[in-house]
Amino acid sequence: MKTILITGATSGIGLAAAQHIRQQGHRVLITGRRPERLEVALTALNGTDQDHKQQDTPAARGYCCDQTDVTAITQLSELLLAERYQLDALILNAGIFLPQAFESFTTTNLQQQLNSNLLGPLQTLYELLPVLNNPASVVLVSSIVADKAFANCTAYAASKAALEGAMGPLNLELASRGIRVNCLRPGITLTEIQSKAGMNEEALAQLTENMKSTLAGRILQPDDMVAALEYLALGGSSAVRGLKLQVDGGYCL
Ligand SMILES: NC(=O)c1ccc[n+]([C@@H]2O[C@H](COP(=O)([O-])OP(=O)(O)OC[C@H]3O[C@@H](n4cnc5c(N)ncnc54)[C@H](OP(=O)(O)O)[C@@H]3O)[C@@H](O)[C@H]2O)c1
Repeated sequence: MKTILITGATSGIGLAAAQHIRQQGHRVLITGRRPERLEVALTALNGTDQDHKQQDTPAARGYCCDQTDVTAITQLSELLLAERYQLDALILNAGIFLPQAFESFTTTNLQQQLNSNLLGPLQTLYELLPVLNNPASVVLVSSIVADKAFANCTAYAASKAALEGAMGPLNLELASRGIRVNCLRPGITLTEIQSKAGMNEEALAQLTENMKSTLAGRILQPDDMVAALEYLALGGSSAVRGLKLQVDGGYCL
C-alpha cells in the first residue's frame, strides 16, 4: 500500500484520481480550499465503501489548505510530519482557470493564476519535501495550453508553461532525494473548472457539442485522466522522469 497526497481533490480530476487510487487499495490524503467541499469529497471517498477490499483500505483524510497561502502549506507539512506520514507520491493538481481577453489584461488576473497554478504547486512541493519518501513521485498537473494556443488564455497558459519549465530543474535537483517529477497534460475535460471560469449552461452545452467533432468524439471526463495519473504517481513509471504525458483524446493532433 502506498501513501499519496492529491491537492485540489474536492472535485474534478483530483477527486476522480483520489477515488480511483483509493479503490486500488492505497492510502489517500486530499486537500481543498473549502471545508464544506472537503467534507463532501471525503464522504464520497469513504462513505460508500461496500466491498471488503475497500474496507481494508485506510479512510481517506482531508486537509484544508489554500495553496496560495504559505502559512497554510507550512501548517499542512507540520501536520503530516506530526502524523508521521511519508508520501510515496504527490499529485500537485489544484489549479484555477480565469479566462480573460488580452485587450482587457489586468495584473490581478495574471497574479491570481500565477499564484494558484505556479507558485502554489512549487511552494507546496518545497514545504512537503520533508514528508516525501525516498523514492517518491511528483506529478505536476499542467494542461495542453502549455503548447496549444487558445484565445483568452494568456495568463493561464503562461502559468502552466512556467510550471512545466520547472520540471527539468526539479528533476536534476531532487533526484538525490529519490524524487522524480513528471507532468500530466489534460485536454478539455468537463469539470467544475468551466463553470468557475464563468461559463453558463448554454456555453457548457455548446462546448460539449463542439467536442463531438474532435477525434475522441466527446468532451473528456475526469475518469479519463485517472489511469495516466496512477501510472505517473504509482505505477510502473519508476524509470520515467520529465515526461509531459498528454491525455487529450487526440485534440492537439
Ligand atoms: N478541466 C480541464 O479541461 C483541464 C484541462 C487541463 C488542465 N486542467 C488542470 O487540471 C487541474 C484540476 O482541474 P479540474 O478541471 O479538475 O478543476 P476543478 O474541478 O475546479 O478542481 C480544481 C480543484 O483545485 C482546488 N483549488 C483551486 N485553487 C486552489 C487553491 N488555491 N488551493 C487549494 N486548492 C485549490 C479546487 O478547490 P475549490 O473547489 O475550492 O475551487 C478544486 O478542488 C487544474 O490544475 C487544471 O488547471 C484542467
